[in-house]
Amino acid sequence: FDNKIWYPVLLDWFSVHRRALPWRENRTPYTVWVSEIMLQQTKVEAVRPYYDSWMERFPDIKSLADASQDEVLRQWQGLGYYSRARNLHEAVCEVQSQYKGIVPDNKDAILKLKGIGEYTAGAILSIAYGQPEAAVDGNVLRIFSRLYNIEENILSAAVKKKITALVQEQLPKDAPGDFNEALMDLGASICIPKHPRCQVCPLISFCLAKATGKEAQIPIRTVK
Ligand code: ADE
Repeated sequence: FDNKIWYPVLLDWFSVHRRALPWRENRTPYTVWVSEIMLQQTKVEAVRPYYDSWMERFPDIKSLADASQDEVLRQWQGLGYYSRARNLHEAVCEVQSQYKGIVPDNKDAILKLKGIGEYTAGAILSIAYGQPEAAVDGNVLRIFSRLYNIEENILSAAVKKKITALVQEQLPKDAPGDFNEALMDLGASICIPKHPRCQVCPLISFCLAKATGKEAQIPIRTVK
């Protein structure tokens, strides 16, 4: 294929190295939503037990909407950043009352829900609804800035926009959820911040930073 198109190589790698995670089992818009909110400021291994007991107590939108805020906060106890739990509860109540318990499948509506930004909207739409949406977080900014040798500040809105366009260009329309999850796994295990494990990276032959020996200097983060 075109030397700019590498997603098939990433998807092949993912089919072998995909991490087995509880939220990858019974996928619904609700389970993707809950897991992405929990994973925002908390590591995968810390989230696992919370996710499991959360789904036992609140298996669906209705059970969470029916719960009191006190009980919701008790279930969240220990995960920290409690506004995540309050916003999730409020937004789930909104979905229950305004959308008959169905998470909206369009971006404008989903972005209006409390606590859901571009990243979470993209994750829900791509993973649960199969829509060709990017989900750009810190991992994706790091991977793409290396692949395309982008020596600009990844904290800037302009660079994020540029990278989102590159993700859209690569994103396979028939497997957007797998593609986004594959990037999450690549960023967690191989294209890691400090010492990227390029020797085992499936994308090494596509990586412009590696080609010029700059993989450890990129991404660039300048705080003004
Ligand atoms: N980090 C953020 N979202 C994730 C997901 N769905 N799977 C693994 N790690 C993640």
